[in-house]
Amino acid sequence: MKNTFFFVLFISAIVALFAIAFSFAQDQGLDGKKIFVDAKCNSCHTVTAMEITSKKDDATDLSNAGTLGDAQLMKSYLLKEAKINEKEHKMKFKGTDEELNGLVNWLLTLKTESEG
Ligand code: HEC
Repeated sequence: MKNTFFFVLFISAIVALFAIAFSFAQDQGLDGKKIFVDAKCNSCHTVTAMEITSKKDDATDLSNAGTLGDAQLMKSYLLKEAKINEKEHKMKFKGTDEELNGLVNWLLTLKTESEG
């Protein structure tokens, strides 16, 4: 009887581990580019490296956003809790924490040498 209990516990632990690993993998899989467009970041920004364009003439290009700081800074910046270049961001990100993580992970991959 005791053995059965531990066996069930053991199986449950393995199942739980898989569940955690799976949800983590899904987190990483959130498409930052899609979130970027869905959140209408491109109404003010281009990411020329990713062929994202903006209707705004003087849009700031984020092709090099990955060089601005780490994930923590970028998240805080987009929540208007921290400044980059001594300025707060224009708007606060309104999506979920998961979406913010996906977005920031993607932004941090943008490290394109600027052309000028
Ligand atoms: C209403 C216009 C507007 C929207 C929408 C907007 N931004 Fe911005 N963003 C700005 C302005 C203005 C700056 C400052 C640009 C500068 O320094 O010239 C900025 C700066 C940034 C910077 C720092 C760029 C740098 O080189 O200093 C990042 C990163 C950024 N925005 C990401 C985003 C993301 C991600 C979204 C979508 C969630 C977004 N922005 C939506 C206006 C906007």
